[in-house]
Amino acid sequence: MKKISVKSPANIAFIKYWGQRDNKLILPYNDSFSMNLSGCTTRIEIETTDDPSLRKLYIREYKSTDFRESEGKTLDMIIKFADTAKRFLGKRRSPGFIIRSENTFPKKAGIASSASFFSALALGFSRMYESEPEEKELSILARLSGSGSACRSIPDGFVWWQKGTGSSSSYAYSLAPPAYWDLRDVVLILSREEKKVGSQEGHQSAITSNLYKERLYGLKKRMRLIRRAFENKEFSLFGRLVEADTVSMHSVMMTQNHGLFYWSGKTLDVIREILALRQKGTEGYFSIDAGENVHVICRGKDEGRIAGYFKTHPAVIDIIRNSPSVGARIIHT
Ligand code: PMV
Repeated sequence: MKKISVKSPANIAFIKYWGQRDNKLILPYNDSFSMNLSGCTTRIEIETTDDPSLRKLYIREYKSTDFRESEGKTLDMIIKFADTAKRFLGKRRSPGFIIRSENTFPKKAGIASSASFFSALALGFSRMYESEPEEKELSILARLSGSGSACRSIPDGFVWWQKGTGSSSSYAYSLAPPAYWDLRDVVLILSREEKKVGSQEGHQSAITSNLYKERLYGLKKRMRLIRRAFENKEFSLFGRLVEADTVSMHSVMMTQNHGLFYWSGKTLDVIREILALRQKGTEGYFSIDAGENVHVICRGKDEGRIAGYFKTHPAVIDIIRNSPSVGARIIHT
């Protein structure tokens, strides 16, 4: 019997991943670019057992005091992923396992909880199978979990996921360590409700949107510009590109088959406030994933003012402040 503890961050994408060219290998149509989040992490503990049929999952929800057993879809995904990891790492036997997982933020609400969870599992399962794959392999394994963006939570800091030409070249790597740029992500929690349609399902229909080709075409220029803005630390240009990419992705989501409308009225209210704050000289830029909550990307010098401003806002029920963070780490084996 062995105990493995892992901690892994969620990440916020500046250039987003939406749509899969291969839904078995989880290959994206475009590269994406993200920052790991210091305040939004998943911690998992894997306890192995000699009985291979014993596979259990306990989750402690955000702000809850106790662990509850989780069955159904999430447990099935984990069992499937344990088998994927076994094959990927070239192992024959699988031990049984009991997993305990807890988040520092609400799950399935547009804060990439699947990225932190599955990247933590990729690292935890590797150790369970007594393997120490290099970062690139671990990132590929995390991608194969089904949550593609999990591959971006493996490397440190600011991370680029290259779409690659096949499974072995589609992985994420660090562009710069966390200390490279004093960026912040102030997450405004507007709701703790779990979204009804998850990204796994949403990716499948992305290509049905008339705007999808347009998005991929526009991304070529946006990616070139954001790389340059990042290298030169040109924050205003960087922020404008982050917002443009959010709007582009959500336009696709809304216009794909069975359109996905993740924004609520509160989301729009908060966006307007961010724009108004900018007019008054406090520079924050919005980014939104598959949920109604809003990420405000800003520099360290404006973080306090932005968090303070939204603290009393009627739409905001909680705020999570994030700095750039390292990727997945073993805490103890
Ligand atoms: O990795 P998935 O399947 O959970 O998809 C994530 C998609 C977005 O969060 C909406 C965008 C992104 O790049 O993180």
